[in-house]
Amino acid sequence: MDASPRLLIRGGRVVNQDHSQLADVLVEDGVVRAVGPDLLAAGTSAEGLRIIDATGKLVMPGGIDTHTHMQLPFMGSQSIDDFYQGTKAALAGGTTMIIDFVMPQKGCSLIEAFDMWRGWADPKVCCDYSLHVAVTWWSDQVKEEMRILTQNKGVNSFKMFMAYKDLYMIRDQEMYAAFSQCKEMGAIAQVHAENGDLIAEESKKMLALGITGPEGHEMCRPEAIEAEATLRAITIANAVSCPLYVVHVMSKSSAKIIANARREGKVVFGEPIAAGLGTDGTHYWHEEWHHAAHHVMGPPLRPDPSTPDFLMNLLANDDLTTTGSDNCTFSTCQKALGRDDFTKIPNGINGVEDRMSVVWEKGVHNGKMDENRFVAVTSTNAAKIFNLYPKKGIIAVGSDADIVILDPNATRTISAKTHNQAVDFNIFEGMVCHGVPVVTISRGKVVYEAGVFNVNAGDGKFIPRKPFAEYVYKRIKQRDQTCKPTAVKRLPYKGEVIVLKASG
Ligand code: URP
Ligand code: ZN
Ligand code: ZN
Ligand code: ZN
Repeated sequence: MDASPRLLIRGGRVVNQDHSQLADVLVEDGVVRAVGPDLLAAGTSAEGLRIIDATGKLVMPGGIDTHTHMQLPFMGSQSIDDFYQGTKAALAGGTTMIIDFVMPQKGCSLIEAFDMWRGWADPKVCCDYSLHVAVTWWSDQVKEEMRILTQNKGVNSFKMFMAYKDLYMIRDQEMYAAFSQCKEMGAIAQVHAENGDLIAEESKKMLALGITGPEGHEMCRPEAIEAEATLRAITIANAVSCPLYVVHVMSKSSAKIIANARREGKVVFGEPIAAGLGTDGTHYWHEEWHHAAHHVMGPPLRPDPSTPDFLMNLLANDDLTTTGSDNCTFSTCQKALGRDDFTKIPNGINGVEDRMSVVWEKGVHNGKMDENRFVAVTSTNAAKIFNLYPKKGIIAVGSDADIVILDPNATRTISAKTHNQAVDFNIFEGMVCHGVPVVTISRGKVVYEAGVFNVNAGDGKFIPRKPFAEYVYKRIKQRDQTCKPTAVKRLPYKGEVIVLKASG
C-alpha cells in the first residue's frame, strides 16, 4: 500500500451508532487518532497533514457488507464480480469491508476450501475482508475442521444450507450437530432458510406444467417455504442454545418469525439484503426474459410489493439487525444457461456497490430510520456480531480509519451503465438515491474520491475474527450457568410395573 499521509477530516458531522457530533477526525497510520472540535486549534500539528473539508457532510464508519460471493463457482458458472472488481465497487459505494463465504463442495475439506478462498482473495481485494465458512456436509472431520478454523484461522461464523438439495443442503440432524459445534466453539450459526426438499418437488411440478421461465423460480418457493425453514432453524438453534443469524431474510413471513423469536428472548439476528429492501419479485413476470432472470436468487424476491417497506420497518425497529448484499453476480450470457429451464439460471443478484445507497434512500430519506440507525445497520451491528468491534464499525480513537464521507444533499441515479461492477445489469436501475458517498477511506488511505479510485489489488487485508463475540455470547454464557435444565427430585416409585411380553 502507498504510504498514506496524515489526514484531517474537518468540519463534518461525525455519525456513530449512538450519537452524532460536529467534529474533526484525525487519522494517522491507518487508525483514528483523535475525534473532536477544531483539532488544529487544539494543537494538532499541520505538518504532512492532508485536510479534507467535510463541511455539510456526514462522516461515518465505512460499511460492512456481511454477505458477498465474489468469483463464486456456482451452478456451472462463476460469479463475474471477482475479489478485485467487487471490492472496488464496494469502496465506491462506501463499503470498506466485506465478509465473503467459503463454499466447500460436499465431501471436501473446509480448511482446503478456506485456503483456496484466501488464495483467490488476498492478491485481489481492495478493501478489508473476512470469511464465513459454509458447512455443506457432516462428519467428524468437518467437526474438527470447524474447531481448527475457529481457533487458528480467524473464522467465527458458519453457514448451514437448508436448500440446494444434493449440492449444499444438510438435514436437521446434521444442523443440530453443526449448531452444537458452533456453540461449543463460540461461533455464530448462520442459516440459509428454505425447505430444499419442497423446492425440489415443486420445481418438478412447475416444469411439468410447462412453466420454464423465471416466474417458476418464485412459484416453486413461496414465502411459506422460507418461513417454515426459518422457524425450524430457530427451533434447532434454541434447543442447543446456539446464537443464530438468518442470512438474506427475503419475506414478511420469515421476518415476522425472527421478530417473534427475538420477542421471546431467543438470540437470533436477521439480515435483510439490499435487493430485498430496494426492489421486489414482480420482476419475475417481466416480459423480457433477461430482465426477469437477472432477479433470480434464493430465497426469491417477493411479488408482494409491500415487502421492501415491511422489511425496512423491521430493520429500523431492531427486529432485523444488519444488512448484506448477497452480491453474487452473473452476466446475461451466464444467466442464459437457464433460458429453457429456470432451475438452471445461476442464482444471484448485485448489491455490494449500492447497498449503502439503497438503505439510505429507503430507510433514512424515507424517514424510517435516522442517521445513527443507518450506521448501526450498515456497519456497527455487523462489527459487534462478528466480533470486529471496536476495530471496525465505529469512528473512535484507536479504531481502523475505515470511513465514508456522505453528502446527504447530493443525489445519484443507479445504472448498469455507470456502476463499477463487472455485471452487465443492475436490479436497482433508475433508482434515484439521496445521500451520495463522496469520499471513501480504507485504513487511513483515501481510496475513492469524486468518482476516482486510488487503490490497488491486494491493498485490503484479511481480518481474522475471534470466537465468543460478547454482543452475541454474553447472554448465552449467563443462561448456560443459570438456566440449566434440572431433574425433579422425588422418591423412587415402588409400585408395580407391568411385564412386557416378548414380541413375535
Ligand atoms: O441466490 C443466491 N442467494 N446466491 C448466492 C448463494 C446463497 O444462497 O447465498
Ligand atoms: Zn444463501
Ligand atoms: Zn424491472
Ligand atoms: Zn448468499
